[in-house]
Amino acid sequence: MVAETRIGVNDLIAPLFVREDISEPQPITSLPGVMQHTQQSLRAEVKELASLGVPGVVLFGLPNRKDATGSEAWNPDGVIQIALNNLRSDHGDDIVAIADLCVDEYTDHGHCGVLTPQGDVDNDATLELYQKVALAQAEAGADMVAPSGMMDGQVGAIRQALDANGHELIPILAYSAKYASAEYGPFREAVDVNIVGGGNRKSYQQDPANGREAMEEIRFDIAEGADLIMVKPALAYLDVIAQARAQFDLPLAAYHVSGEYAMLKAAALNGWIDGPATALEHLTAIKRAGADIILTYLAREIAETLQ
Ligand code: PBG
Repeated sequence: MVAETRIGVNDLIAPLFVREDISEPQPITSLPGVMQHTQQSLRAEVKELASLGVPGVVLFGLPNRKDATGSEAWNPDGVIQIALNNLRSDHGDDIVAIADLCVDEYTDHGHCGVLTPQGDVDNDATLELYQKVALAQAEAGADMVAPSGMMDGQVGAIRQALDANGHELIPILAYSAKYASAEYGPFREAVDVNIVGGGNRKSYQQDPANGREAMEEIRFDIAEGADLIMVKPALAYLDVIAQARAQFDLPLAAYHVSGEYAMLKAAALNGWIDGPATALEHLTAIKRAGADIILTYLAREIAETLQ
């Protein structure tokens, strides 16, 4: 009766993977219960989620073909554009189809942008690619775009491209404080991304040691036109979520990422912890810290237990 915090189905957004070159959904070893979907199985999964009352999904695509610029990300017939089109015709406005906006699943070198001849990520050249991706996603029926590449100026560049092309009403969910975390490992298996030369994303993602700097990142994104802001990962960054909640009044999302889910599942599958109880405790803590919505691979099972 006196609980200050409650998790409801409305708080949850399900991340989903759709892959081009498969005829059956493929399990992801390090994310038990999560699939690489075909277009068809994705539609079925989203129907289930919608009937459980989950208000939104965030989509990641695995293309057949990768290249240096990630051009499949803005192909109007690309894997994610087809998925968005299908969800739009299946659901209209009754589920929010969010398109993750980045190119790392589409580049042959695995970085979130184009590279200079020296092999560094070229921030400003990448912004032009993100503008093309945003337009392709909006035209395919995305309800919201979620830039996750952590390039400086990405929110402003995307806002400008959307506004100039009749998509003023498409909101931006900004991955504002996204850390260069070791907890994205299983996700990279899920999307088949290997960063060239064993590289990392420390030149564009945040240093896990820095909390105040995250507030600066969020402030920039809001000034550039973000409609929702995000902290990612979640559990190791509850202080950052709490600080963001105290300082900013926009809707605040937190991403309970692949590694957080994988650690929970691994311990639960070994019988070392009570999986469902720990899952609910973790999501409650993320909400208690100040998140309004949580992107989590647990969305479906939590929605089922809350029915
Ligand atoms: C980049 C992206 C990543 C995740 C979401 N978008 C991976 C990365 O930055 O390397 C990670 C999500 C997760 O681990 O669940 N497009």
